[in-house]
Amino acid sequence: MMLQDLLLPESILPHLKSHRLGTIIHHYLETGSTNDAARQFAEQGAAEGTLVLAEEQTQGRGRLGRSWLSERGAGIYASILLRPVLKPCYAAVLTLVAAVAVNEAIEQACGLNADIKWPNDLLLSGRKCCGILSEMQAEGGEIRHVIVGIGINVNHSAFPEELGQRATSLRIEGKQTYSRVAVLCAFPQKFEPLYDDLQRGNRAAVLQRWVARSSFAFGKQVTVHLGSGKKVEGQTAGLSELGNLRVKLADGWLEEVMSGDIVAWR
Ligand code: BTN
Repeated sequence: MMLQDLLLPESILPHLKSHRLGTIIHHYLETGSTNDAARQFAEQGAAEGTLVLAEEQTQGRGRLGRSWLSERGAGIYASILLRPVLKPCYAAVLTLVAAVAVNEAIEQACGLNADIKWPNDLLLSGRKCCGILSEMQAEGGEIRHVIVGIGINVNHSAFPEELGQRATSLRIEGKQTYSRVAVLCAFPQKFEPLYDDLQRGNRAAVLQRWVARSSFAFGKQVTVHLGSGKKVEGQTAGLSELGNLRVKLADGWLEEVMSGDIVAWR
């Protein structure tokens, strides 16, 4: 691990171009999960935009009950605390917007163009280089807070066999190492304006940004696992206003998928 590329607040803050998000940073050499640490800060009243970073996670969590490989110093393991003025039903859109921002941040910092696999996986050469896990607390029809947890495989040189051909890193794809600080700093800069837009009610505009960056939005033949053994197969046909994926089945029926996992596509 290069000392100069530790994700220390003093390395990040001078480069940060956002106004509110990411300006308070908690950095750990090791923690269980940055999402859990961020939730504790949230419950203690921490400000919106508080960023929790770890060099290594021992209990990194993924979507759908999976774990997230968090090799020390190789990736970005970050959670941002948000207190959006938004109905809970739009929380999924918020996560899609975070995926757009990470995609733009990677493009700006590394010059790599990742695809977005619905809902919020970033792919390079068809393999996953970033995942996002959002966790919401709502009460009385209002969001109390959302923790957006972001895992980016930046400088991993290889992955354990059990991940098979599914995972990759920016380093493997770009054939060079990248500055984690640069990638991380670009995120709040890209996310903040989109987040503001979303809270102003410009959902169509922010969803359009997702559509523009994803080859999965239209005309992709997909198999989506919905959990409990159910699945949907068909051709993608855009997003609903809530960020659900529209899938056109073979019989012409349009199905809206709220949550699931695209396991096969072409
Ligand atoms: C997924 O694609 O399944 C989501 C992966 C999210 C991983 C990040 S790493 C930082 C934050 N802390 C966690 O425990 N998970 C998220």
